[in-house]
Amino acid sequence: MLFRDAPLFSMLNQYVSKKRISFSMPGHKGGQGMPKGFDKKLLKYDVTELADTDNLHMPKQSIKAAKKLAADFFGAQDTHFLVNGSTSGIYAMLAATANPGDTVILDRACHISAINACIILGIKPVFIFREIMGRFSIPMGINQKNLIDVLDENHDAKAILITSPSYYGIASDIETISKIARARGIPLLVDEAHGAHFAADQTLFPRTAISQGADLTVQSAHKTLNAMNQAAYLHVNSDLIDKNRLVSVLAMLQTSSPSYLIAASADIARADLAAAGKKKWQNVYNNCEELRRKISSKTKVDFISSLLNGRYNVDSVDETRIVMNFSAYKTTGFEIGERLRKEYNIDIEMADIFNVVAIATPANKASDFSRLSKAVISICEKLSESDEEPVFPPVPIPKMGITPQQAFYAKGRNIRLDEAIGRVSRSTVTAYPPAVPIICTGEIIERQSIEYIEALKKIKAELIGLNANGFISIAEI
Ligand SMILES: Cc1ncc(COP(=O)(O)O)c(C=O)c1O
Repeated sequence: MLFRDAPLFSMLNQYVSKKRISFSMPGHKGGQGMPKGFDKKLLKYDVTELADTDNLHMPKQSIKAAKKLAADFFGAQDTHFLVNGSTSGIYAMLAATANPGDTVILDRACHISAINACIILGIKPVFIFREIMGRFSIPMGINQKNLIDVLDENHDAKAILITSPSYYGIASDIETISKIARARGIPLLVDEAHGAHFAADQTLFPRTAISQGADLTVQSAHKTLNAMNQAAYLHVNSDLIDKNRLVSVLAMLQTSSPSYLIAASADIARADLAAAGKKKWQNVYNNCEELRRKISSKTKVDFISSLLNGRYNVDSVDETRIVMNFSAYKTTGFEIGERLRKEYNIDIEMADIFNVVAIATPANKASDFSRLSKAVISICEKLSESDEEPVFPPVPIPKMGITPQQAFYAKGRNIRLDEAIGRVSRSTVTAYPPAVPIICTGEIIERQSIEYIEALKKIKAELIGLNANGFISIAEI
C-alpha cells in the first residue's frame, strides 16, 4: 500500500513534514509536551482541523477523497469515518431514523449501545427474540417469521436494527430481511461491527450487509482491520434515509475534536484491504482451517461450522472467527480463557460458559495459530470429559414496563436481586463481552432472568449493570 492510496493519511504526512510551529490544539503540540518514555512519533500526526487538514464533519479535500474511496470500495453511496467506534454509528443510525417516542424493532442480540441509544433518544424498542443454537448455547440467525410477526404487531415501527455477524461470526440472511423491511418502507440498519473485513473477499466471507440491501451499516475497522481503537465506518446505501439529518447527528454525537490518527487509520485500513485484503484474508482463512483441523484431530473441541449446514436461520459463518466449544469437557469457556492467558500467555477475545472466541486477522503470524492450537490441545489432554448434555437455557425477553428513557430518569434505589422480581429495572444487565442484554432498562425483572444472572455469577462471568454489592437498580414507580 502506498501513502497516496490513503488520501487522509497522505495529507497527514505532508502536514507533518512541514514542521509547523503549533499555536492550535491539541495541547501536546505534536508530542513536544509529552514526558520522556511516551512514544512521541505518532503524536506528530495527532492534529486537528486546520487550513491544511480538512474537517471530518464537513470534508472538502483529503477527507472527502478518502470517504469516496471507502464508499466505492465498500459498495456504498457514502461512507462516514467514525472516531467514536461503531457505538457512535449505532447511535447515529437510530437518531437519523427515529424520533423521540417512536418504535424501533431491535434484535435482542444487540450490543448494549443500541439500548443506551434508546435511553438517550427516547426510542421504544420492540425486540426480536433469537433462538439458541444447540450445544454452543449461542444465538442463531434472525428468524424471518419472528421478524414478520413483530412487524405485524408494530405497524408504526420506524426502523429495524439487527446485528450481523454476531460476536460468534454468525451472519443472518440480510437479503431476505432487507426485502421484508423494504416492502414495508422502513429502513434496515445493520450493526456489522465484526464484519469490516468481509469486503476483502465476498466468496470467502458472508456477503456484506450493504451489498444485500441494508440501508445503513456500521463496521468497526478497529475490530478486524489494521485500524486504531475507535476507528469505524458508517455506510449509507439508501433512498429511505435523510442524509442531511445523518450528517447532523454524526456531528452531534461525535467529538468536535476528532482524532485524525484514528480517522487516518480507518483510511489506511480501507486502502490495505483494497490493495491486498483478498490474499491476506485467504491466508488467515487457511490458518484458521489448519487450526481447526489440528484441534479437531486431537481433542473433542467442536467448531461452529460443523453444526450448521444451512440450519438455525444462519445464512453463513465467518470462518476466520475462531469459536471453540468445550462442552464435551468438564470445564467452562471462562476457565479455558484464563488458562490460555496465565499458562500460555495468549489473550483471547471472549469466553462464555461453553465457548472461547478468538479473533484472527492478517496481523497474526502463522506461529500465533500454532501456539494457540498447541495450547488448546495440551489443555484438553488434562481435562475430564463430560457426559452431561450442555444446558444453559436462553433467558426469555422480559416484558417492557416503561420505556428505557422513562426508567432511566425515574427515581430509583438499589436492591438485592432476589427482591427485585416484579420491579422495573433502571439498569441494563449484560455479561461483558458480548454485552448482549439480559435485562434492559425499563423491563420488568423476572425470576428466570435473576436465575440466569445467578448462574452466570457462579461461573464467574463478568457482569455489568449491577452495583459493587451485586444489587440491581429498580425504578420506584
Ligand atoms: C456487535 C457489536 N456492536 C457494536 C459494538 C461497539 O463497537 P465499538 O467498540 O466500535 O464502539 C460492539 C463492541 O464490541 C459489538 O460487539
